Amino acid sequence: MWHSSILGAIGDTPLVKLNKITSQIPCTVLAKVEFFNPGGSVKDRIALKMIEEAEKAGTLHPGGTIIEGTSGNTGAGLAIVAIAKGYKCIFTTTDKQSQEKVDVLRALGAEVVICPTNVAPEDPRSYYSVAKRLSKETPNSIYPNQYDNPANVQAHYESTGPELWAQTEGKITHYVAGAGTGGTICGTAKFLKEQNPNLKVIGVDPYGSVYYKYFHERVFDHAEIYPYITEGVGEDILAGNMDFDLVDDYVRVTDKDAMQYTRRLAREEGLFVGGSCGMAMAGAVHWLETHQKTLKPDDVVVVLLPDSGFRYLSKIYNDKWMEGHGFL
Ligand SMILES: Cc1ncc(COP(=O)(O)O)c(C=O)c1O
Repeated sequence: MWHSSILGAIGDTPLVKLNKITSQIPCTVLAKVEFFNPGGSVKDRIALKMIEEAEKAGTLHPGGTIIEGTSGNTGAGLAIVAIAKGYKCIFTTTDKQSQEKVDVLRALGAEVVICPTNVAPEDPRSYYSVAKRLSKETPNSIYPNQYDNPANVQAHYESTGPELWAQTEGKITHYVAGAGTGGTICGTAKFLKEQNPNLKVIGVDPYGSVYYKYFHERVFDHAEIYPYITEGVGEDILAGNMDFDLVDDYVRVTDKDAMQYTRRLAREEGLFVGGSCGMAMAGAVHWLETHQKTLKPDDVVVVLLPDSGFRYLSKIYNDKWMEGHGFL
């Protein structure tokens, strides 16, 4: 049995029981391990769906160019889809993303434009603005815009959600994930809540992002926005794909906790994953510890782990870098 192209290998990722990191939690805790996707992250799912939808809508023509703002993982997914389907790619990203992510995009044949992190989203230098401008200037191009594109949520509604329901045989009771565009948490939550309206969805945010406060107070507070290290999660905007009504609680995690939990996942569970995985895991453990009394022994918690440790070898898995940031 073989796939007709690499695109057939997207999705159907394993669900793995955690045995040490959650030993104090009185129920089953499982990890949805998304680095098994061919582009190394959960974002392959939305890359394929966004391009298929653009083809169906007739906005993407043969030989066309895909232009997107990405923290790296969506770019890797789009680049693989572009190779399989014969498109070109130009990506904008920020100077905070790891070198490994940029190297992966270039290795997959994409052109990469690095933009400053610490400018407002509406600033013409921001990676959002540059992607929009390039898509206007480049003939026969599309700008999938993962922040607002409904195909992002739909990809998870059609794949991640049903996979978790089938893999847990309908036993999943809690779903924990970080959010950037909101596609992963909302698409999956929408499907799972349709199957079981009592299922609890817990969002995890890094300090420095607006989502935590917006969830709890429905206030967009500019004072909450400051630079943080954890990549791919949290926002300085409210993404169109982020539907807070699908989330039941929100916790937040410091960079230090996120990085330390990332290393623990590698050393204690053999899960060599990225920083947003450690963040989701730290948030899950904190939430489960504070809500111990509400947990039943047959509860099944799933924590989604978006990407691979290979994208962060020069950072989280480098002692000097960790020491330099006071994370050890
Ligand atoms: C490493 C990483 N983790 C988590 C996310 C968040 O996923 P979503 O955009 O679906 O909310 C992203 C998104 O870019 C990411 O790159």
